[in-house]
Amino acid sequence: MGKLIIDGGERISGEIRVQGAKNAVLPILAATVMADGVSVIKNCPSLRDVDKTDLVLERLGCIVRREENVVTVDTRGMCDCEICEDLMREMRSSIIFLGAIISRCKRAVVSMPGGCPIGLRPIDLHLKALKEMGVSIQEEHGYINCKAEKIRGGNIHLDFPSVGATENVMLAAVCADGITTVSNAAREPEIVDLSNFLNSMGARVYGAGGSVITIHGVEKLNGAEYTIMPDRIVAATYLAASAITGGEICLNSVNPYDMGAMLHVLEEMGAKIRCENSRIIQTAPKTLRSVHTIRTMPYPGFPTDIQSPFMALASMARGTSVFIENIFENRFQHVDELTRMGADIKVEGRSAVVRGVRELQGANVVARELRGGAALVIAALAANGTTSVSGVDFIDRGYENIEKYLQSCGAKIRRE
Ligand code: EPZ
Repeated sequence: MGKLIIDGGERISGEIRVQGAKNAVLPILAATVMADGVSVIKNCPSLRDVDKTDLVLERLGCIVRREENVVTVDTRGMCDCEICEDLMREMRSSIIFLGAIISRCKRAVVSMPGGCPIGLRPIDLHLKALKEMGVSIQEEHGYINCKAEKIRGGNIHLDFPSVGATENVMLAAVCADGITTVSNAAREPEIVDLSNFLNSMGARVYGAGGSVITIHGVEKLNGAEYTIMPDRIVAATYLAASAITGGEICLNSVNPYDMGAMLHVLEEMGAKIRCENSRIIQTAPKTLRSVHTIRTMPYPGFPTDIQSPFMALASMARGTSVFIENIFENRFQHVDELTRMGADIKVEGRSAVVRGVRELQGANVVARELRGGAALVIAALAANGTTSVSGVDFIDRGYENIEKYLQSCGAKIRRE
């Protein structure tokens, strides 16, 4: 795995066009297999997770072509309905193929995705919902064998508004018999993007973005052309990168309306933010104020994915901030590394108490997962001296060319 070398102390100011959303493009690429045709996905970010998803599509027999940020998927040659263990272990979000493959082939075989650094990541809600839709599921030898003569529409209630489970039910329901309602559905903007893509393929999905989604089963879907929404988590990451250095930054091609909870916290910390249609302009003070308490919640609450980048920000704010991580059970791995840089953070269970310090020192730190890696980069930008962040492959899973975007805003950062 490579590393990023960062000389801290530069103000991060300038203009960034924000990449397409990882957590929208992954389920949308999976959904392409439900049509026997060609789909064109635009504004597709260059990420390791997208590359892995393309590989899954090819293993299923699809032809995937990429030209810059446009991915074309031809599913007419699809000849398999199994995702092997190595790919599932490498990227657990491949579980999102389950609903799509069953919808197309009426059978699917995937290996148990297993956990990841941030938590166990069970899929009980996915499997419970699919069983209620008439899918028979055998779990043996670490594999999940699914079969369904017909997928039945029905009333599905999710015990937790799981993003992945909501997406899998949507994918299984679009060509099911009858009408499916999903209550306590996840409301994330990426769910709306998936719904818009499915409807452009000829599906009839209503209510995405709300807690109840209704899907009227249709006979078949066609390939479609679609442009992926901007990545709200990457956008907030760059706002934090600029804010920790007292910079001024303009983000283009973003959707501020998806980012309310995050923008509110940045303003509470003293940043001045102006939103104009698809632009956000932020000016940060030399030193930010702490934020009393941040609780991660399902959308529209504060997103768990931005918890660690904002904790890096809070580590140099004036005062004490408390972070409570309600979504994943192991999402504080960046704390040890931030502490090596001089941060003052105490973790008690799901809470982290962050006492702002006047300065951080450059150090050798290790990224252990995607968003925690981004947090270390943010801290390094403001630290005194040079920081080496290893484990950059984790960061590349969700951030497109992170060093190039930050260099364009004045950062002294290079990849080794
Ligand atoms: C999606 O993961 C995102 N990934 C995550 O982003 C994001 O953090 C998460 O949603 C929450 O917003 C993608 O979209 C590819 P969940 P997902 O199902 O679908 C529990 C990133 O950094 N749960 O909403 O896996 C689960 O353990 C990644 O970009 C069950 O108990 O999240 C967790 O505690 C990280 N049983 C909570 O629900 C289930 O069957 C939320 O998980 C499913 C989930």
